[in-house]
Amino acid sequence: MKFIVTGGAGFIGGNFMHYMVNKYPEDQFINLDLLTYAGNLETVAPLEGKPNYRFVRGDIADRKFIFDLFAREKPDVVVNFAAESHVDRSITDPEAFVRTNVCGTTTLLDACRTYGIKRYHQVSTDEVYGDLPLDRPDLFFTETTPLHTSSPYSASKASADLFVLAYHRTYGLPVSISRCSNNYGPYHFPEKLIPLVISRALADEKIPVYGTGANVRDWLYVTDHCSAIDLVVRKGLEGEVYNIGGHNERTNLDVVKTILRSLNKPESLIEFVKDRPGHDRRYAMDPTKIETELGWKPEYTFDTGIPKTIEWYLSNREWWEHIVSGEYQKYFDKMYSKRLAEGENA
Ligand code: NAD
Ligand code: DAU
Repeated sequence: MKFIVTGGAGFIGGNFMHYMVNKYPEDQFINLDLLTYAGNLETVAPLEGKPNYRFVRGDIADRKFIFDLFAREKPDVVVNFAAESHVDRSITDPEAFVRTNVCGTTTLLDACRTYGIKRYHQVSTDEVYGDLPLDRPDLFFTETTPLHTSSPYSASKASADLFVLAYHRTYGLPVSISRCSNNYGPYHFPEKLIPLVISRALADEKIPVYGTGANVRDWLYVTDHCSAIDLVVRKGLEGEVYNIGGHNERTNLDVVKTILRSLNKPESLIEFVKDRPGHDRRYAMDPTKIETELGWKPEYTFDTGIPKTIEWYLSNREWWEHIVSGEYQKYFDKMYSKRLAEGENA
Protein backbone atom coordinates (compact mmCIF):
# COMPACT_ATOMS: atom_id res chain seq x y z
CA MET A 1 0.00 0.00 0.00
CA LYS A 2 1.10 3.54 -0.69
CA PHE A 3 0.44 6.14 2.01
CA ILE A 4 0.53 9.92 1.77
CA VAL A 5 0.95 11.23 5.30
CA THR A 6 0.53 15.00 5.53
CA GLY A 7 2.19 17.01 8.30
CA GLY A 8 4.77 14.27 8.82
CA ALA A 9 7.46 16.77 9.83
CA GLY A 10 5.37 17.95 12.79
CA PHE A 11 5.08 16.51 16.27
CA ILE A 12 2.49 13.73 15.95
CA GLY A 13 2.91 13.23 12.20
CA GLY A 14 6.68 12.83 12.74
CA ASN A 15 6.15 10.23 15.45
CA PHE A 16 3.63 8.48 13.16
CA MET A 17 6.19 8.38 10.32
CA HIS A 18 8.74 6.70 12.62
CA TYR A 19 6.10 4.24 13.85
CA MET A 20 4.74 3.27 10.41
CA VAL A 21 7.92 3.30 8.30
CA ASN A 22 9.61 0.94 10.76
CA LYS A 23 6.56 -1.26 11.39
CA TYR A 24 5.53 -1.75 7.74
CA PRO A 25 8.62 -2.10 5.54
CA GLU A 26 6.46 -3.47 2.72
CA ASP A 27 4.34 -0.28 2.52
CA GLN A 28 5.44 2.99 0.91
CA PHE A 29 5.23 6.27 2.85
CA ILE A 30 5.31 9.75 1.36
CA ASN A 31 5.71 12.48 3.94
CA LEU A 32 4.03 15.60 2.54
CA ASP A 33 4.73 18.72 4.57
CA LEU A 34 4.93 22.43 3.87
CA LEU A 35 7.56 22.96 6.59
CA THR A 36 5.86 25.87 8.28
CA TYR A 37 7.47 27.11 11.50
CA ALA A 38 6.13 23.87 13.11
CA GLY A 39 7.65 21.51 10.55
CA ASN A 40 11.10 20.19 11.34
CA LEU A 41 12.97 17.78 9.09
CA GLU A 42 15.37 16.98 11.93
CA THR A 43 12.43 15.06 13.43
CA VAL A 44 12.40 12.62 10.51
CA ALA A 45 16.13 12.68 9.72
CA PRO A 46 16.57 9.06 10.97
CA LEU A 47 14.14 7.92 8.23
CA GLU A 48 16.06 9.49 5.35
CA GLY A 49 17.46 6.81 3.08
CA LYS A 50 14.95 4.10 4.08
CA PRO A 51 13.62 2.48 0.90
CA ASN A 52 9.95 2.87 1.91
CA TYR A 53 10.17 6.57 2.87
CA ARG A 54 10.19 9.81 0.87
CA PHE A 55 9.76 13.48 1.78
CA VAL A 56 7.90 15.91 -0.47
CA ARG A 57 7.55 19.57 0.38
CA GLY A 58 4.17 21.09 -0.47
CA ASP A 59 1.01 22.80 0.65
CA ILE A 60 -2.18 20.76 1.18
CA ALA A 61 -4.21 23.85 0.24
CA ASP A 62 -2.44 24.23 -3.13
CA ARG A 63 -4.94 22.53 -5.43
CA LYS A 64 -2.71 22.25 -8.50
CA PHE A 65 0.20 20.86 -6.51
CA ILE A 66 -2.01 18.32 -4.71
CA PHE A 67 -3.80 17.14 -7.85
CA ASP A 68 -0.48 16.72 -9.69
CA LEU A 69 0.92 14.76 -6.75
CA PHE A 70 -2.11 12.44 -6.60
CA ALA A 71 -2.08 11.94 -10.39
CA ARG A 72 1.57 10.94 -10.18
CA GLU A 73 1.55 8.87 -7.00
CA LYS A 74 -1.98 7.35 -6.89
CA PRO A 75 -1.92 6.78 -3.11
CA ASP A 76 -4.05 4.05 -1.50
CA VAL A 77 -4.31 5.82 1.86
CA VAL A 78 -4.13 9.46 2.97
CA VAL A 79 -3.62 10.30 6.64
CA ASN A 80 -4.06 14.02 7.20
CA PHE A 81 -2.12 15.44 10.16
CA ALA A 82 -1.20 18.73 8.46
CA ALA A 83 -2.68 21.63 10.34
CA GLU A 84 -2.10 24.87 12.12
CA SER A 85 -2.27 23.36 15.59
CA HIS A 86 -1.64 26.02 18.24
CA VAL A 87 -4.70 27.53 19.92
CA ASP A 88 -2.89 30.73 20.97
CA ARG A 89 -1.79 31.40 17.38
CA SER A 90 -5.37 30.87 16.17
CA ILE A 91 -6.49 33.64 18.48
CA THR A 92 -4.08 36.13 16.89
CA ASP A 93 -4.30 34.85 13.27
CA PRO A 94 -7.46 32.82 12.54
CA GLU A 95 -7.12 33.11 8.73
CA ALA A 96 -4.16 30.72 8.46
CA PHE A 97 -6.25 28.13 10.33
CA VAL A 98 -9.12 28.37 7.86
CA ARG A 99 -6.75 28.06 4.92
CA THR A 100 -4.83 24.99 6.04
CA ASN A 101 -7.26 23.22 8.34
CA VAL A 102 -10.43 23.72 6.27
CA CYS A 103 -9.36 24.46 2.66
CA GLY A 104 -6.40 22.08 2.92
CA THR A 105 -8.75 19.30 4.02
CA THR A 106 -11.29 19.92 1.23
CA THR A 107 -8.47 20.04 -1.32
CA LEU A 108 -7.23 16.61 -0.16
CA LEU A 109 -10.79 15.25 -0.17
CA ASP A 110 -11.34 16.49 -3.74
CA ALA A 111 -8.09 14.88 -4.87
CA CYS A 112 -9.19 11.60 -3.24
CA ARG A 113 -12.54 11.83 -5.02
CA THR A 114 -10.88 12.50 -8.36
CA TYR A 115 -8.14 9.87 -8.26
CA GLY A 116 -9.79 7.28 -5.97
CA ILE A 117 -8.67 6.20 -2.51
CA LYS A 118 -8.99 3.14 -0.26
CA ARG A 119 -9.08 5.25 2.91
CA TYR A 120 -8.89 8.95 3.78
CA HIS A 121 -8.18 9.41 7.49
CA GLN A 122 -8.63 12.75 9.25
CA VAL A 123 -6.63 13.37 12.43
CA SER A 124 -8.90 15.45 14.62
CA THR A 125 -9.04 16.57 18.21
CA ASP A 126 -11.10 16.45 21.40
CA GLU A 127 -11.33 20.24 21.16
CA VAL A 128 -14.17 19.94 18.62
CA TYR A 129 -16.45 18.97 21.53
CA GLY A 130 -15.77 22.22 23.41
CA ASP A 131 -15.13 21.87 27.14
CA LEU A 132 -16.56 20.26 30.25
CA PRO A 133 -17.17 21.91 33.62
CA LEU A 134 -14.49 21.44 36.27
CA ASP A 135 -17.01 20.32 38.90
CA ARG A 136 -18.47 17.41 36.87
CA PRO A 137 -15.74 14.72 36.82
CA ASP A 138 -18.45 12.22 35.82
CA LEU A 139 -18.80 13.78 32.32
CA PHE A 140 -16.74 12.64 29.29
CA PHE A 141 -16.79 13.32 25.55
CA THR A 142 -18.21 10.47 23.47
CA GLU A 143 -18.43 10.29 19.68
CA THR A 144 -22.04 11.51 19.88
CA THR A 145 -21.28 14.59 22.01
CA PRO A 146 -22.37 17.62 19.93
CA LEU A 147 -19.62 19.72 18.35
CA HIS A 148 -19.37 22.97 20.30
CA THR A 149 -16.13 24.78 19.61
CA SER A 150 -14.44 27.60 21.51
CA SER A 151 -11.36 28.82 19.61
CA PRO A 152 -10.72 29.59 15.93
CA TYR A 153 -8.45 26.50 15.98
CA SER A 154 -11.17 24.16 17.22
CA ALA A 155 -13.75 25.77 14.91
CA SER A 156 -11.50 25.06 11.93
CA LYS A 157 -10.93 21.44 13.02
CA ALA A 158 -14.67 20.85 13.56
CA SER A 159 -15.41 22.37 10.17
CA ALA A 160 -12.90 20.00 8.56
CA ASP A 161 -14.54 17.02 10.34
CA LEU A 162 -17.93 18.02 8.95
CA PHE A 163 -16.54 18.19 5.41
CA VAL A 164 -14.97 14.75 5.82
CA LEU A 165 -18.30 13.26 6.94
CA ALA A 166 -20.18 15.14 4.20
CA TYR A 167 -17.86 13.66 1.54
CA HIS A 168 -18.63 10.21 2.91
CA ARG A 169 -22.40 10.69 2.85
CA THR A 170 -22.62 12.64 -0.42
CA TYR A 171 -19.90 11.03 -2.52
CA GLY A 172 -19.38 7.72 -0.70
CA LEU A 173 -15.72 8.56 -0.01
CA PRO A 174 -14.19 5.92 2.33
CA VAL A 175 -13.23 8.12 5.27
CA SER A 176 -12.54 7.80 8.98
CA ILE A 177 -11.89 10.35 11.72
CA SER A 178 -10.05 10.01 15.01
CA ARG A 179 -10.37 12.62 17.75
CA CYS A 180 -7.58 12.51 20.29
CA SER A 181 -6.87 14.22 23.59
CA ASN A 182 -3.66 16.20 24.31
CA ASN A 183 -0.49 14.42 23.19
CA TYR A 184 3.00 14.64 24.68
CA GLY A 185 6.33 12.92 24.05
CA PRO A 186 9.39 13.24 21.77
CA TYR A 187 9.59 15.93 19.06
CA HIS A 188 6.91 18.17 20.63
CA PHE A 189 7.38 21.78 19.52
CA PRO A 190 8.34 23.88 22.55
CA GLU A 191 5.49 26.38 22.16
CA LYS A 192 3.15 23.76 23.73
CA LEU A 193 2.82 23.39 27.50
CA ILE A 194 4.89 20.27 28.32
CA PRO A 195 7.98 20.89 26.12
CA LEU A 196 7.77 24.61 26.97
CA VAL A 197 7.95 23.83 30.69
CA ILE A 198 10.81 21.34 30.25
CA SER A 199 12.92 23.61 28.04
CA ARG A 200 12.33 26.75 30.12
CA ALA A 201 12.87 25.00 33.45
CA LEU A 202 16.19 23.61 32.21
CA ALA A 203 17.22 27.20 31.41
CA ASP A 204 15.89 28.42 34.81
CA GLU A 205 13.40 30.65 33.00
CA LYS A 206 9.95 31.63 34.28
CA ILE A 207 7.09 29.22 33.45
CA PRO A 208 3.93 31.07 32.33
CA VAL A 209 0.78 29.42 33.71
CA TYR A 210 -2.46 30.79 32.29
CA GLY A 211 -5.08 31.93 34.81
CA THR A 212 -4.97 29.87 37.98
CA GLY A 213 -3.63 26.69 36.35
CA ALA A 214 -6.84 24.83 37.23
CA ASN A 215 -7.73 23.91 33.64
CA VAL A 216 -7.65 20.17 33.01
CA ARG A 217 -6.20 18.32 30.02
CA ASP A 218 -6.33 14.57 29.30
CA TRP A 219 -2.75 13.59 28.35
CA LEU A 220 -1.81 10.74 26.00
CA TYR A 221 1.73 9.60 25.16
CA VAL A 222 2.19 10.19 21.44
CA THR A 223 3.01 6.61 20.36
CA ASP A 224 -0.31 5.49 21.85
CA HIS A 225 -2.00 7.96 19.49
CA CYS A 226 0.03 6.51 16.59
CA SER A 227 -1.02 2.92 17.37
CA ALA A 228 -4.65 4.03 17.58
CA ILE A 229 -4.56 5.75 14.16
CA ASP A 230 -2.84 2.72 12.63
CA LEU A 231 -5.69 0.56 13.95
CA VAL A 232 -8.46 2.90 12.75
CA VAL A 233 -6.95 3.19 9.27
CA ARG A 234 -6.63 -0.60 8.88
CA LYS A 235 -9.62 -1.89 10.84
CA GLY A 236 -11.92 1.07 11.55
CA LEU A 237 -15.26 1.24 9.76
CA GLU A 238 -15.80 3.73 6.94
CA GLY A 239 -17.68 6.87 7.89
CA GLU A 240 -16.97 6.37 11.61
CA VAL A 241 -15.47 8.61 14.27
CA TYR A 242 -13.25 7.15 17.03
CA ASN A 243 -12.32 8.98 20.24
CA ILE A 244 -8.79 8.37 21.55
CA GLY A 245 -7.68 9.00 25.13
CA GLY A 246 -6.28 7.19 28.13
CA HIS A 247 -8.05 8.76 31.15
CA ASN A 248 -5.02 10.76 32.26
CA GLU A 249 -6.55 14.00 33.44
CA ARG A 250 -4.30 16.51 35.18
CA THR A 251 -4.62 20.21 36.00
CA ASN A 252 -2.05 22.37 34.24
CA LEU A 253 -0.58 23.28 37.62
CA ASP A 254 -0.14 19.58 38.47
CA VAL A 255 1.64 19.02 35.15
CA VAL A 256 3.99 21.96 35.71
CA LYS A 257 4.78 20.96 39.30
CA THR A 258 5.40 17.32 38.31
CA ILE A 259 7.94 18.41 35.69
CA LEU A 260 9.67 20.88 38.02
CA ARG A 261 9.96 18.19 40.70
CA SER A 262 11.45 15.70 38.23
CA LEU A 263 14.01 18.26 37.10
CA ASN A 264 14.76 19.32 40.65
CA LYS A 265 13.73 22.92 39.90
CA PRO A 266 11.92 25.26 42.32
CA GLU A 267 8.19 26.07 42.07
CA SER A 268 9.20 29.72 42.34
CA LEU A 269 9.78 29.55 38.56
CA ILE A 270 5.99 29.45 38.10
CA GLU A 271 4.45 32.76 37.05
CA PHE A 272 0.68 33.07 36.79
CA VAL A 273 -0.17 35.15 33.71
CA LYS A 274 -3.30 36.54 32.05
CA ASP A 275 -5.63 33.75 30.95
CA ARG A 276 -6.06 32.57 27.34
CA PRO A 277 -9.27 34.18 25.93
CA GLY A 278 -12.08 31.59 25.76
CA HIS A 279 -9.84 29.10 27.60
CA ASP A 280 -11.44 25.61 27.61
CA ARG A 281 -11.80 24.37 31.17
CA ARG A 282 -11.61 20.59 30.95
CA TYR A 283 -11.18 17.95 28.24
CA ALA A 284 -11.88 14.30 29.05
CA MET A 285 -12.26 11.56 26.47
CA ASP A 286 -14.32 8.39 26.65
CA PRO A 287 -12.35 5.92 24.47
CA THR A 288 -14.77 2.98 24.99
CA LYS A 289 -15.60 2.65 21.28
CA ILE A 290 -12.02 2.21 20.03
CA GLU A 291 -11.23 -0.07 22.98
CA THR A 292 -14.22 -2.37 22.56
CA GLU A 293 -14.63 -2.33 18.75
CA LEU A 294 -10.97 -2.29 17.70
CA GLY A 295 -9.19 -3.62 20.79
CA TRP A 296 -6.96 -0.54 21.24
CA LYS A 297 -5.17 -0.11 24.57
CA PRO A 298 -2.64 2.59 25.47
CA GLU A 299 0.78 1.42 26.61
CA TYR A 300 1.56 4.39 28.87
CA THR A 301 -0.11 6.24 31.72
CA PHE A 302 0.84 9.84 32.51
CA ASP A 303 3.00 8.55 35.37
CA THR A 304 5.03 6.30 33.03
CA GLY A 305 4.99 8.59 29.99
CA ILE A 306 6.15 11.80 31.63
CA PRO A 307 9.52 10.49 32.97
CA LYS A 308 10.16 8.93 29.55
CA THR A 309 9.41 12.28 27.89
CA ILE A 310 11.64 14.26 30.26
CA GLU A 311 14.43 11.74 29.68
CA TRP A 312 14.03 12.23 25.91
CA TYR A 313 14.36 16.02 26.19
CA LEU A 314 17.45 15.62 28.38
CA SER A 315 19.08 13.22 25.91
CA ASN A 316 18.06 15.15 22.79
CA ARG A 317 18.91 18.73 23.74
CA GLU A 318 20.19 19.47 20.27
CA TRP A 319 16.75 18.82 18.75
CA TRP A 320 14.92 21.43 20.83
CA GLU A 321 17.87 23.82 21.17
CA HIS A 322 17.89 24.06 17.36
CA ILE A 323 14.25 25.15 17.54
CA VAL A 324 14.86 27.70 20.23
CA SER A 325 17.80 29.11 18.21
CA GLY A 326 16.00 28.88 14.82
CA GLU A 327 18.75 26.60 13.42
CA TYR A 328 16.18 23.89 12.50
CA GLN A 329 14.80 26.00 9.66
CA LYS A 330 18.09 25.70 7.79
CA TYR A 331 17.79 21.90 7.65
CA PHE A 332 15.73 21.74 4.46
CA ASP A 333 18.30 23.75 2.50
CA LYS A 334 21.14 21.71 3.95
CA MET A 335 19.51 18.36 3.11
CA TYR A 336 17.63 19.09 -0.08
CA SER A 337 19.00 22.06 -2.01
CA LYS A 338 21.59 19.95 -3.84
CA ARG A 339 19.12 17.16 -4.62
CA LEU A 340 16.47 19.65 -5.73
CA ALA A 341 18.94 21.27 -8.08
CA GLU A 342 19.67 17.81 -9.48
CA GLY A 343 15.93 17.11 -9.84
CA GLU A 344 15.94 14.08 -7.51
CA ASN A 345 13.01 15.20 -5.43
CA ALA A 346 9.87 17.25 -5.91
P1 NAD B 1 2.29 20.39 14.57
O1 NAD B 1 1.96 21.84 14.55
O2 NAD B 1 3.42 19.92 15.40
O3 NAD B 1 2.58 19.89 13.08
C1 NAD B 1 1.82 20.31 11.98
C2 NAD B 1 2.61 19.97 10.71
O4 NAD B 1 1.78 20.33 9.59
C3 NAD B 1 3.92 20.74 10.57
O5 NAD B 1 4.95 19.86 10.17
C4 NAD B 1 3.63 21.77 9.48
O6 NAD B 1 4.77 22.10 8.71
C5 NAD B 1 2.60 21.02 8.64
N1 NAD B 1 1.73 21.93 7.88
C6 NAD B 1 1.10 23.04 8.33
N2 NAD B 1 0.40 23.63 7.33
C7 NAD B 1 0.59 22.86 6.23
C8 NAD B 1 0.10 22.91 4.89
N3 NAD B 1 -0.69 23.91 4.49
N4 NAD B 1 0.46 21.95 4.03
C9 NAD B 1 1.29 20.93 4.42
N5 NAD B 1 1.79 20.83 5.68
C10 NAD B 1 1.43 21.77 6.57
O7 NAD B 1 0.94 19.65 14.96
P2 NAD B 1 0.70 18.35 15.84
O8 NAD B 1 0.61 18.73 17.25
O9 NAD B 1 1.65 17.30 15.41
O10 NAD B 1 -0.77 17.96 15.36
C11 NAD B 1 -0.96 17.16 14.21
C12 NAD B 1 -2.44 16.95 13.99
O11 NAD B 1 -3.02 16.32 15.13
C13 NAD B 1 -3.22 18.25 13.79
O12 NAD B 1 -4.21 18.03 12.80
C14 NAD B 1 -3.87 18.50 15.15
O13 NAD B 1 -5.08 19.19 15.00
C15 NAD B 1 -4.11 17.08 15.62
N6 NAD B 1 -4.10 16.87 17.09
C16 NAD B 1 -3.08 17.33 17.86
C17 NAD B 1 -3.07 17.05 19.21
C18 NAD B 1 -1.93 17.51 20.11
O14 NAD B 1 -2.01 17.34 21.31
N7 NAD B 1 -0.85 18.07 19.57
C19 NAD B 1 -4.10 16.32 19.78
C20 NAD B 1 -5.15 15.88 18.96
C21 NAD B 1 -5.13 16.15 17.62
O1 DAU C 1 -6.66 18.60 23.15
C1 DAU C 1 -5.95 18.44 21.97
C2 DAU C 1 -5.25 19.73 21.63
O2 DAU C 1 -4.16 19.87 22.54
C3 DAU C 1 -4.77 19.77 20.20
O3 DAU C 1 -5.87 19.71 19.33
C4 DAU C 1 -3.95 21.03 19.93
O4 DAU C 1 -3.40 21.00 18.62
C5 DAU C 1 -2.82 21.08 20.95
O5 DAU C 1 -2.06 22.25 20.77
C6 DAU C 1 -3.36 21.01 22.37
O6 DAU C 1 -4.10 22.21 22.69
P1 DAU C 1 -4.00 22.90 24.14
O7 DAU C 1 -4.42 24.30 24.00
O8 DAU C 1 -4.66 22.06 25.17
O9 DAU C 1 -2.40 22.77 24.36
P2 DAU C 1 -1.31 23.80 24.94
O10 DAU C 1 -0.06 23.01 25.12
O11 DAU C 1 -1.25 25.04 24.13
O12 DAU C 1 -1.90 24.16 26.35
C7 DAU C 1 -2.18 23.16 27.33
C8 DAU C 1 -2.79 23.84 28.51
O13 DAU C 1 -1.77 24.63 29.16
C9 DAU C 1 -3.90 24.81 28.18
O14 DAU C 1 -4.88 24.76 29.20
C10 DAU C 1 -3.22 26.18 28.18
C11 DAU C 1 -2.12 26.02 29.20
N1 DAU C 1 -0.88 26.78 28.95
C12 DAU C 1 -0.29 26.67 27.72
C13 DAU C 1 0.88 27.35 27.44
C14 DAU C 1 1.52 27.25 26.07
C15 DAU C 1 -0.29 27.52 29.97
O15 DAU C 1 -0.82 27.59 31.08
N2 DAU C 1 0.87 28.18 29.69
C16 DAU C 1 1.48 28.14 28.46
O16 DAU C 1 2.54 28.80 28.27
